[in-house]
Amino acid sequence: METVLTIDGPSGAGKGTVSRLIAGELGWNYLDSGAIYRALALEITEKDIEHGSIEGIVEAALAMDLRFECGEERAVLLNGNDITDLLALESTGNTASKIAAIPEIRAALLQKQHDFLQAPGLVADGRDMGTVVFPDAKFKVFLTASAEERAQRRYKQLKLKGIDANLAAITADIQERDQRDSERQISPLVPAVDAVYIDSSAMSIQDVVKEVLSLVR
Ligand code: C5P
Repeated sequence: METVLTIDGPSGAGKGTVSRLIAGELGWNYLDSGAIYRALALEITEKDIEHGSIEGIVEAALAMDLRFECGEERAVLLNGNDITDLLALESTGNTASKIAAIPEIRAALLQKQHDFLQAPGLVADGRDMGTVVFPDAKFKVFLTASAEERAQRRYKQLKLKGIDANLAAITADIQERDQRDSERQISPLVPAVDAVYIDSSAMSIQDVVKEVLSLVR
């Protein structure tokens, strides 16, 4: 059976970088579940589907053709179009967080996430990987950091990508998103009871990777 390592936590905790490095190190598949919610946010914006139209969004979720290409640089294709850069926008994350609070939409995206479970193993990164999507995962991590540290990291990340960014706006956005993700009724952002809790505020990415790898090995 495939082994699953789930890495959940709030935005900007370093889950993406850590998960990718670990998946590369172990030769496992990688699921970036946030990118699936973000892609759906782009799809409904592109198709002009209203945020209140649950039926329309569910239909779009089931119909969208989403591909993750792992070359030297990761590329994400939505219905054949490269959406990699659009996915990273704060506005995309914000819309994603709004639609992610709707149970029917989460249910519609479940299968797409389960499809990533392939041999020899999977590193699944998100908010509810260890609690809802892969509750039987063998290894579970909850990775967090202070809101200030996460805002700084996201700011640097966007700047590196050449995207215009404002630290105060990012901090406010992260706090708003944390609150919405933690307080929603369905699949709120909470550590699984059997997750190992890591606060990475004062840790380097390499230290976090080492600590998580030591759990799995
Ligand atoms: O992780 P990322 O910032 O890309 O996720 C964007 C948004 O998608 C999050 O703020 C969250 O609301 C939602 N999300 C979720 N469940 C996941 C992954 C992401 O609700 N497993």
